[in-house]
Amino acid sequence: MSENFVLDGKTKSIDFGEEEVRFLKVLRASLDLAIDRGQEENAEMLRKLIEMGQRISSSLEIDVIIETTLKSLVEVAGAKCCALGLFDKKTGEIALKKSPESSNKSQIRAERVQAEGTILGEVTKTGQPMVIEDLANYEGSLCLPDCSNGMRSAAVFPVQAGGRIHGALIVCTPFALDRKGNEVGYLSIITSQVGLAIENAQLYESLREYYMNVVNALTAALEAKDKYTQGHSLRVALWAKEVAKEIGLSDKEQEMIYIGGLLHDIGKVGVREQILLKTDKLTPEEEKEIHTHPRTGARIMEPANLPKEVVEAVLYHHEDYDGGGYPEGIAGEKIPLLPRIIRVVDSYDAMKSDRPYRKAFSKKWVIEELNRCSGKQFDPVVVEAMIKLIEQGKLA
Ligand SMILES: [Fe+2]
Repeated sequence: MSENFVLDGKTKSIDFGEEEVRFLKVLRASLDLAIDRGQEENAEMLRKLIEMGQRISSSLEIDVIIETTLKSLVEVAGAKCCALGLFDKKTGEIALKKSPESSNKSQIRAERVQAEGTILGEVTKTGQPMVIEDLANYEGSLCLPDCSNGMRSAAVFPVQAGGRIHGALIVCTPFALDRKGNEVGYLSIITSQVGLAIENAQLYESLREYYMNVVNALTAALEAKDKYTQGHSLRVALWAKEVAKEIGLSDKEQEMIYIGGLLHDIGKVGVREQILLKTDKLTPEEEKEIHTHPRTGARIMEPANLPKEVVEAVLYHHEDYDGGGYPEGIAGEKIPLLPRIIRVVDSYDAMKSDRPYRKAFSKKWVIEELNRCSGKQFDPVVVEAMIKLIEQGKLA
């Protein structure tokens, strides 16, 4: 189901699952009810909860979701100390992250705990929240000994979505919590939102894993065909990522270039083996066939609906900075940055590899060649970053 929202002054259409739509409708109804009854305080709190929900669900990174939740709970809900724990499927332990306010350190702290025999174990087993109204008289284990001291109450909520329990949220407060009080209701709403965000992030993560397996299978298929380039795609992917990092590109761009590097020559599956393996000079006809591989690669990737940046990295990785490359002959900044990086790294790996008709070139020769081609085939900014990394021994 698609719903329209106004975010940052722009109307955006967002797709929600059935469970999310139900949750948002309940939240909206509660807000309307609170406003109708003139309960301004409650309405204000619910508004804050909606904002918090937007912040929590705006990321697909589990660590970011946890960090946002813990910080928001301290800021918005008045919690003094809180922790969010998620099950580790392999060990059955709970990986617990605590808000920074629980110690003098400013970082969120992480530790692993055995849930069995603790309140966490009980809540994650039953799926029911538990409220400890008076912590001073509580004899069980809360798994937060250092921050529950001096606190009045605590509540533990199961983090669940999609019919699964992912973990639990623990909140300690200096004020008394009442099982039936508003605060517990608000915290339950937040926990539902966290559950949905975690579920989405985990689905995205498994999709990404599946997708990377497909990418690796495609790369292996290509390298089985062209024995001279074994390991070439992986080296190009790793080194292009290093260069992207050196130039200051974001984590997302570094991931895009890594995938683009793995796939850059995938279109060679459409080139005859006798041409790929030929050691003599290619005829103009054969060269023409080789030059089809960037377009073929982009076409192969089309049905996979890959990010635009990855497709461009494959399509333009043989374009030259001075416009003398292929398939389109575009130049300078018109060539996107990711393929400009792959262009240099791809050539670097060729220079550093043995061929049946020659040995790998020396480091000194390679650096001279990179400088000679800077501003011609290669982007000077990329060459500068490459040479720096080569001299630091990071592209060995
Ligand atoms: Fe290529």
